[in-house]
Amino acid sequence: MSKALFITGASSGIGAATARAAVAQGWHVGLFARSEGKLKALVDELGEQAVALPGDVTDLKNLEAAMADFAGRTGGIDAVFANAGMGLSVAGTDAGDPEEWERMIRVNVLGVLWTVKAAMPHLKQRAGHLLLTGSAAGRRHIEGSVYGASKWFVHGYGGNLSEEMKSFGSLSLNALNFARDWRYLRRYFVKLTI
Ligand SMILES: NC(=O)c1ccc[n+]([C@@H]2O[C@H](COP(=O)([O-])OP(=O)(O)OC[C@H]3O[C@@H](n4cnc5c(N)ncnc54)[C@H](OP(=O)(O)O)[C@@H]3O)[C@@H](O)[C@H]2O)c1
Repeated sequence: MSKALFITGASSGIGAATARAAVAQGWHVGLFARSEGKLKALVDELGEQAVALPGDVTDLKNLEAAMADFAGRTGGIDAVFANAGMGLSVAGTDAGDPEEWERMIRVNVLGVLWTVKAAMPHLKQRAGHLLLTGSAAGRRHIEGSVYGASKWFVHGYGGNLSEEMKSFGSLSLNALNFARDWRYLRRYFVKLTI
C-alpha cells in the first residue's frame, strides 16, 4: 500500500518539488498552501496520487481540517513535512519592518508549531515521520538577520521535538538544511517507499 505525505508550502519551490519526488516514489501527497490555483495545477500534473488542500499555516484549525480530510482519503498520514516559510524584503534589524517581521514569525514560527500540533495525532497512529525545513541561516549567525532567527527556532525546536518524539516509539524528526536537502530527500523517500 502506498504511503501518505502531507506537505505545507506545497504550491511552489521546495514543497512542490518534494511533492513531485514523493509521487514519483509512489507516495500519496496532500498539498497545503494558500494559492489554490497553483495547488490545482500541481494536482493536474501529478494525477490521482495528489490532492489540493488549500489553507493557511497561521491557522491551526485550517491545518487540523486539512489533515483530517487527507487522512480520511488515504486511511492515515505517514509523514508530515512542515515546509511553508517566508523571507523578508528588507534585511537586518535597523532597516527591517516590524510588521513584516510579525507576518514572518506567524508563518515561520507559529506555522511550524501549528503544523506539528495538528500532525501529532496522525503520526502517533502510524509511527510516522516529521520533517521540518530549516536553513543554513538557522545554524550560523548572520548580521542582524531576523529571518535567520526564525530558522534558529526551527532547528532548536526540532532538536527538542526529536527528544519528545522518542517516547512515542518509532517517530523521528529530520531538520533539513537547504544546502543538502535534495540528496537527503531523495534518499529519504526511496528508503520509506514500500
Ligand atoms: N530557497 C532557499 O534558498 C531556502 C533556503 C533555506 C530555507 N528555505 C526555506 O524553505 C521553505 C520553502 O521555501 P522555498 O524556497 O521553496 O520558497 P517558496 O517557493 O516561496 O515557497 C514557500 C511556500 O510557503 C507557502 N506559504 C507561505 N506562507 C504561507 C501561509 N501563511 N500558509 C500556507 N503556506 C504558506 C507558499 O505558498 P502560498 O503563498 O501559496 O501560501 C509556498 O508554497 C521555507 O521555509 C524557506 O524559509 C529556503
